[in-house]
Amino acid sequence: RIVPVILSGGAGTRLWPSSREAYPKQFLPLLGDRSTFEDTLARVADPKVFTDPVVVTGEDFRFLVADQLARAGVTGRILLEPMRRDSGPAIAVAAELIRASDPNAVMLVLAADHLVTDSAAFAATARAGLDAAQAGALVTFGIKPNQPATGYGYIRPGDMMDGRVRMVAAFVEKPDAETAEKFLADGYLWNSGNFLFRADVFLGELQRYEPEIADVAAKVAAATRVDHAGGISFERIDREIFATSPAKSVDYAVMERTDRAAVIEADYAWSDLGSWNALWEMSPKDADGNAARGAVSLTDTRNSFVASEDIHTAVIGLDDVAVITTKDAVLVARRGVANELKALVGALRADD
Ligand code: GDD
Ligand code: MG
Repeated sequence: RIVPVILSGGAGTRLWPSSREAYPKQFLPLLGDRSTFEDTLARVADPKVFTDPVVVTGEDFRFLVADQLARAGVTGRILLEPMRRDSGPAIAVAAELIRASDPNAVMLVLAADHLVTDSAAFAATARAGLDAAQAGALVTFGIKPNQPATGYGYIRPGDMMDGRVRMVAAFVEKPDAETAEKFLADGYLWNSGNFLFRADVFLGELQRYEPEIADVAAKVAAATRVDHAGGISFERIDREIFATSPAKSVDYAVMERTDRAAVIEADYAWSDLGSWNALWEMSPKDADGNAARGAVSLTDTRNSFVASEDIHTAVIGLDDVAVITTKDAVLVARRGVANELKALVGALRADD
C-alpha cells in the first residue's frame, strides 16, 4: 500500500484576509463545508490503496491538524516542524521515518491546500504510477496548462515508459514569464506538486544532489521525540538539528536535477487555489458570473468573487473584483491579484 504524506506547512498569504498566519488556508472551508486538508484526507482514504497518512506540519498547527483528523475519523502520524524549511526537508524527514518501518515503502506526497474533486480519477492515476515508482522512478503528476503562469514547475514529457507514464525530459521550477510562454507553446505540463516514489530512492537522490538536507533528515529521524497531549501523539522534530537544514523546496532540491523523474498526465481537474481568482474559477457562479459566499448582496456586479465571514457585505456597480470581509479586515481588489497580496501581507507583518 502507498503511504500518503500530506504537506501542510504553507502560509497561504495570497488568500488574505481569510487565510491568516495562525489559521492558514488549508484548514479553512474555502469551497463548501470541508477544508482542503479534510478533502485531501478523503482523497487518500481508500484502505485498499493507502495506509494511514503522515502529516507534516508546523508546531503551531498541531491542534488544527489533530482536530481535523479526528473529525475525518482518520488516525495518522503527525510530524511537527519547529520552523519552516520548505518542502525538501519536510519530505526528507517523512521519508526517513517511513523507510525505517518499511524499507521498500512507496510514498505519495500531497499538498494540503489543493483542490481535486474527482478522488477516484486521482487514485487511479496514483495506481497507474505505482509500477514505475517501485522500479525507481520519481513520478510527478502533470497538468495541462491554460496560461503561462510563473508560479509553477514546468515538465517536458519525454519517452514513454509504461502505461500512462513517460520519462521527464526537463523539469523547470518557476520559469520567468517569457520562458513560460515558450513552454506553453512547446507542450510542457505543470507540475501539480504530487510526487510518488520509494522513500529509499528519494533519499538516495537527495543524498546525491542535496547532501546537507539528507544528512539533517537522517539525524532528525534518529532524534525525533513522540509527545502525548490530550490523547493525541505528536512526533516532534528536533529544533537544533532541523535549524541547520538548508531551506529548499523539493522541486529545486531534487526534481530539477534528477534523471529518475517520470510524469503521468492527470485526467482530473486540479487547482492549487493559489489566489482569489483561482477560487472564483473553481466556484459555482450565478448568471452574472459572480461567486458569493456568506451574507452578501450584489447589484449591477459581474464576474466577481465576494465573500463575507461575518458582516453583511454589499457590492454595487463593480466588475471583476474580489471583495472579502472578515471580522477584522477587508480586502477590495482586482480579481486577479495574487503576488501583490503576498507582498502586502509581508509588509503588514513587518509593521507588527
Ligand atoms: N510541512 C511543510 N513544511 N510543508 C511545506 C513547507 C514547510 O516548510 N513549505 C511548503 N510546504 C507545503 C505547502 O503547504 C504546500 O502544500 C506544498 O508544500 C508546496 O509548497 P508551496 O509553497 O505551495 O509551493 P509552490 O506552490 O510555490 O510550488 C509547488 O507547487 C506547485 C503546484 O501548486 C511546486 O511543487 C511547483 O512545482 C508546483 O507547480
Ligand atoms: Mg502552492
